[in-house]
Amino acid sequence: MAIDLRSDTVTLPTPEMRQAMAAAEVGDDVFGDDPTVNELEALAARVTGMEAGLFVTSGTMGNLASLLAHGQRGQEVILGDESHIFQYENGSASALGGMVLHTVPTNPDGTLPLEAVEAAIHSPAHHYHFYHWAPPGVICLENTHNRCGGAVLEPSYFAEVAAIARRHGLPVHLDGARLFNAAVAAGRPVTAWTEHVTSVQLCLSKGLAAPVGSLICGPADFVDRARRMRKILGGGMRQAGVIAAPGIVALTKMVDRLAEDHRHARILAEGLAGLPGVTVDLEAVRTNIVIFRVASAAEAERVQAEAAVAGLLVSDFGAGRLRLVTHYGIGEEDCRRAVAILAACVRR
Ligand SMILES: Cc1ncc(COP(=O)(O)O)c(C=O)c1O
Repeated sequence: MAIDLRSDTVTLPTPEMRQAMAAAEVGDDVFGDDPTVNELEALAARVTGMEAGLFVTSGTMGNLASLLAHGQRGQEVILGDESHIFQYENGSASALGGMVLHTVPTNPDGTLPLEAVEAAIHSPAHHYHFYHWAPPGVICLENTHNRCGGAVLEPSYFAEVAAIARRHGLPVHLDGARLFNAAVAAGRPVTAWTEHVTSVQLCLSKGLAAPVGSLICGPADFVDRARRMRKILGGGMRQAGVIAAPGIVALTKMVDRLAEDHRHARILAEGLAGLPGVTVDLEAVRTNIVIFRVASAAEAERVQAEAAVAGLLVSDFGAGRLRLVTHYGIGEEDCRRAVAILAACVRR
């Protein structure tokens, strides 16, 4: 079987998750009657220190329902130009919510320059005066940062963004698809970040290995609005306890083992760093994502294709970059083998 490092979304559910699915107590969740979904949502709220939680089908739906719950048509979503929401979510808040995606440049460490965030906020004084600009609706952050190689943003940075948001009366939404990776890497609870944001989206189906689903957490009135948005998006599910049950296993049993994925990513990064024609920033590798660079986009395409033939799947990240992601099901030996395969591919 191929070593699949394309993404941590390829993880398969653990045996305990499959048992939990089979045994799950269920009800109609649109009526609020599914005890397993209710338990998962309460657990997520507790873990994040938020008032309430909401189970959604995917990270994409979680981010969209959150943005729609925070803002209105014609308002701006202020976010990084390298963010997942901007790069990979089909402009959903614009397409379905009439919101304007206002990007600011993303620093290589995944932060957004504070002055750029501040400058992106068109204050009431601006638009009441000139009636030019769309008013701001919400600021978005991402942690860990996918396109910045799984970078961990510090809680102190979140506090600075929160201060700007507070000054302008704006909510902050965190795309925390891999927030548990950040927490494990930094040795901090997720509340170190969530205390600074209004809402957060957490993926269960990445490193935590659940087969499906995400959670959004925030204040109760926000979650009420997000629940309505989820229904509008077709995400009101019925006996969803069957898929919520592995999510409970994910949150209670699978967080600490993320440290293993981070260790494996280091093995990959250190192995790659010694290869001719490969550039990798070792300092930047703190979690389960390794992005490395080869000579050109064409070379990256060739390496990806040849690695696949040799039994290693990787993602092409554009502009001569390839991405490797470690996860549940990938062991140390797989990582060493992956380095050997890449060594053979890049040398030719
Ligand atoms: C940072 C980030 N946010 C959101 C998502 C979307 O999650 P999903 O694939 O469950 O829609 C992803 C998925 O890879 C992601 O990496």
